[in-house]
Amino acid sequence: MKKLPAVLAKIEEELAISVDYMRDIAARFQEAMNDGLAGKQSSLKMLPAFIGSPTGQEQGKVVAIDFGGTNVRVLLVELAGQGQASIIEKRSVPLKDKYGNYDYTCATALGAELFDFIAGKISEIVPPGSIYPLGHTFSFPCRQYGVNEAVLISWTKEIKTAGVEGQNVGQLLQSALDRKGVGYVKSLAVINDTTGTLLAAAYTDTATTIGAICGTGHNSCYLEPCHPLTKQPMIVNMESGNFDGVCQTTYDMLLDQASEKPGAQRLEKMASGQYLGELIRLIVGRLVTDGHISQGSDRLQVPYSFTTADISPILADESPELGAVASLAVTRWGISGLALCQLAAVKKVAQLVTIRSAHLAAATWAGVLFKIDPELNRKHTIAVDGSLYEKLPEYANTLAKAMAEILGDKAKQVTIRLSKDGSGIGAAIAAATVYNRK
Ligand code: BGC
Repeated sequence: MKKLPAVLAKIEEELAISVDYMRDIAARFQEAMNDGLAGKQSSLKMLPAFIGSPTGQEQGKVVAIDFGGTNVRVLLVELAGQGQASIIEKRSVPLKDKYGNYDYTCATALGAELFDFIAGKISEIVPPGSIYPLGHTFSFPCRQYGVNEAVLISWTKEIKTAGVEGQNVGQLLQSALDRKGVGYVKSLAVINDTTGTLLAAAYTDTATTIGAICGTGHNSCYLEPCHPLTKQPMIVNMESGNFDGVCQTTYDMLLDQASEKPGAQRLEKMASGQYLGELIRLIVGRLVTDGHISQGSDRLQVPYSFTTADISPILADESPELGAVASLAVTRWGISGLALCQLAAVKKVAQLVTIRSAHLAAATWAGVLFKIDPELNRKHTIAVDGSLYEKLPEYANTLAKAMAEILGDKAKQVTIRLSKDGSGIGAAIAAATVYNRK
């Protein structure tokens, strides 16, 4: 049997994305963008958002919804123009109660129930008396026919609510608002969270050309300078989580096969917070099966029992005895008494999986830059939101380093920055844009 260091070296080789490979992925990504835009077969959906960059002068009191996963946020936002936005009220509510009282995300829940729940939360923060425009960030792949006409193609992030796929999300929400007696709130725009992130950052920084989420889900959008449909600048939601131009390892294949939708969202399953913890669990499980780490409890066999929130303390553990890693091995997997080299192996696996995620994201953004500004003659801001980017130790630095490696000298033209809560503010900007167009 191979020794642990040799096994780890093999895992590292499988998960490593070299600079050359990142450039190769960037080129393939660019090709997939071109195909998707031209309506050819492509793993990138390239969904038009029917909205361009904001002017920074959008104004008014606007309701925003940020529906991105198992939590939904409703906000009342004041846009003051000159890039100024403030949140007057907000509520964040889980769509799945941890005590099991309700779950609007499971297959037996109905879309109408889900949207009634959200409309009820809006009624709590928006007083009657005037008409409010509403912008809805809905972070799932939607075919858009206009800025307020978004039909859900398919759920992602393991959400299964019945009666929403194939439906017009703006209409489902408006009907729920009417039913709940808040018909004075008018749904005017449905956007993806990447679009929201781009809009919120571009409200103050006109160089913003890419918006991305590195969180539970993974996706990016960009500002297409001349969209084939309108010959105008338009934001395009690429649904880059579905990109299939990266080789899967055996662990990626195992995860994919056991997932809700095998074959779909291949990049997301390698890069996003929903799946990183599960990849680590699968790799550590393999180390246990092969006898490199002692057997724990049955908990190690439970899918998704190790989450992305568990990764942070492991990566942050610089102590000589790796105490945080040891304690997670006990609490999550029931594995105790690990030797230091075994704890170091667990940490190494967590690092490799996380670094790969950042390298993949950087490579796809480089692909976008190569398409819209091949010589990098202009400055570009990449606005990013999401828990991996914001909270995972070293994630943001790894991304910036990878971008510098891919672009070399030209990297100084590119800034990657956090656009915190961009999707809520972005939804408000989208609604104000549409309201002012009228
Ligand atoms: C969805 C995207 C979304 C991303 C980040 C993915 O699962 O398909 O629409 O932008 O998650 O929330």
